[in-house]
Amino acid sequence: MPIQNPQRYTVTAALIYANGPIHIGHLAGCYLPADIYVRYLRGQGRDVAFISGTDEHGVPITIKARKEGTTPQEVVDKYYTQIRDAFGEFGISFDIYSRTSKPAHHQVSQDFFTNLYDKGIFKEEVTEQYYDQKAAQFLADRYIVGTCPNCANPNAYGDQCERCGTSLSPEELINPHSTLSGEPPIKRPTKNWYLPLDQLQPKIRAYVDSHPEWKTNVAGQCLSWLNAGLHPRAMTRDLDWGVKVPLPDTEGKVLYVWFDAPIGYITFTKELFEGRGQDWEPYWKDANTKLVHFIGKDNIVFHCIIFPAMLMEHGQFVLADNVPANEFMNLEGDKISTSRNWAVWLHEYLRDFEGQQDVLRYVLCANSPENKDSDFSWKDFQARNNNELVGNLGNFVNRAMVLTQKHFGNKVPPRNNLFDIDLDVIESIRRLPGQITASLEAYRFREALALVMELSRVGNKYLADTTPWHAIKDDESRVQTIMNLSLQIAANLAIVMEPFLPFSARKLLGMLNLPAHRWKDAGSIDMLSEGHALGVSSLLFTKIEDAVIEAQVQKLLDAKKVNQQEARANAPVEAPAAVPEGKPAVSFDDFTKMDIRVATILAAEAVPKTKKLLKLTLDTGIDRRTVVSGIAEHYQPGEIIGRQVCLLANLAPREIKGIMSQGMILMAEDADGSLAFVRPEKLITNGGTVR
Ligand code: 2FM
Ligand code: ZN
Repeated sequence: MPIQNPQRYTVTAALIYANGPIHIGHLAGCYLPADIYVRYLRGQGRDVAFISGTDEHGVPITIKARKEGTTPQEVVDKYYTQIRDAFGEFGISFDIYSRTSKPAHHQVSQDFFTNLYDKGIFKEEVTEQYYDQKAAQFLADRYIVGTCPNCANPNAYGDQCERCGTSLSPEELINPHSTLSGEPPIKRPTKNWYLPLDQLQPKIRAYVDSHPEWKTNVAGQCLSWLNAGLHPRAMTRDLDWGVKVPLPDTEGKVLYVWFDAPIGYITFTKELFEGRGQDWEPYWKDANTKLVHFIGKDNIVFHCIIFPAMLMEHGQFVLADNVPANEFMNLEGDKISTSRNWAVWLHEYLRDFEGQQDVLRYVLCANSPENKDSDFSWKDFQARNNNELVGNLGNFVNRAMVLTQKHFGNKVPPRNNLFDIDLDVIESIRRLPGQITASLEAYRFREALALVMELSRVGNKYLADTTPWHAIKDDESRVQTIMNLSLQIAANLAIVMEPFLPFSARKLLGMLNLPAHRWKDAGSIDMLSEGHALGVSSLLFTKIEDAVIEAQVQKLLDAKKVNQQEARANAPVEAPAAVPEGKPAVSFDDFTKMDIRVATILAAEAVPKTKKLLKLTLDTGIDRRTVVSGIAEHYQPGEIIGRQVCLLANLAPREIKGIMSQGMILMAEDADGSLAFVRPEKLITNGGTVR
């Protein structure tokens, strides 16, 4: 059960590997929701410590160093600074942003390990592990790749398949090979210390079961791990980069990065409060502390199962009250990928959209992958800015300010007789902040933001319905009331939008000449007293033009082109260039649900005002039907009449450019994007099935 009325909050955001810059997927997955939550708590006057930093150990760091021809230390130094500064500029308001390479962290994690070791928690075992003879090195985690047994991804890592998200051990990989030499590995015996998760399973299950309020995506992953049965997991690795194992005769061994990294949350809390000359311990040891971990979905098992198991065995620490992990955000319909440069990088955004942090914060939250993967597109970014931020929120605030300036000398006018329409608005002002609070408490940030925008919409509708710009001619008293209430809405907005849009909220508070916000004031219609002098008004948001968006889209297209060229250059001669990756297995039953038939094209014509579409009439053996197909750039209508093709006949009909398309022609696509019909190699009676 969640903790009620906590005395303080310790909120952590995942310690990202310091091996590359931050992109929008990281922000949407973890850092933005964490920041929204913390800003809300601070607005409430709660005692909160917001902890994060970089994870500077583990194979991802050493691999990056090899790739860049440099040392792991240089890699982490470079990216720590870049990441910290980008977060700072974006307004992620950590109380501390530290790093796991600090000696203090090595000490805290070694002490933690020793604590468990001394209690006899670990199982010491000699096992056969993969070893690269050429590189003279054991192949931990990401040093080994192979085919995922679950989804057939040929590039799955020894610890995880990034395509299907399955957590793996090196032994499970099919056709494993070393990422160092490319060679198949041999096995060598080595000693490691294991956390007996199998034995701890009942305790872990009881902990997970005690939190039925966790998000379903989080609970679902936990249950699937628990139901599959936990296995002992090595907490040490044969590597030379990391926290040294604090035991004799362990040269060349370090703590598993997933052992030391979450302990970083503790180390950094200690660093924060010791730096302030305060006691850090209540933030981890007092039962009245609410500990919340914000992470992306690939980190769920570590935060909900392994780290809690470590904390339980240690015995002195509180366990997470919630782990509101998000799913992934895709980009323009494709998975974000650092190696393919398919990303919107935060440092580039901050350069290209100077002073527009809140626009990205808004779009990422409005489209947050809270319960399922979501997609970021530049067109959507532009539309949300122009229609929602400029058209709704900015427009309302601007009208309220400008009308007050024009008619009432920039001072808050009095509130006079109230009519039903005013009372309705007052009801919204009183109700919406409470609803926003409830959504934030439940980690439903997307819903909370929609409610903030609803308040602004109420304001816009109020102005549109009461038309103060007309009413001023013959009823100034009425307009005084309208502007008073409009300004009260603006003042409420300045408070409730702060967690989401902190830069604009600060600006709005300045425009309203209000002091720093307090959440408890939200819901009041007396935030601005009669006669209160307003500050200087300016626009909160500005329109984003097509050319700006086109430049961003072009950047992505360029990245795609480079990738395709690289894929072609790196492809083995005999293999087809740049073939798409395989897809997860489907059952035979699923396959048989598709009604694929041979059909003959009876007629074909271009669809007006499109470049790509042809309207085809087909004889399918069972009927005569119309299908719209995107092949106009590959075939002339005249050349395909009479051809036999394969048709997915039971694809749900859909309207394309005003034409109802009843099925889909199967086409094969070459690496250069050219298309060819898939068709029977001899004449088949129309309606013949393809299986
Ligand atoms: O996925 C990652 O980037 C990990 N470095 C996250 C670690 S979170 C915590 F445990 F430190
Ligand atoms: Zn997989």
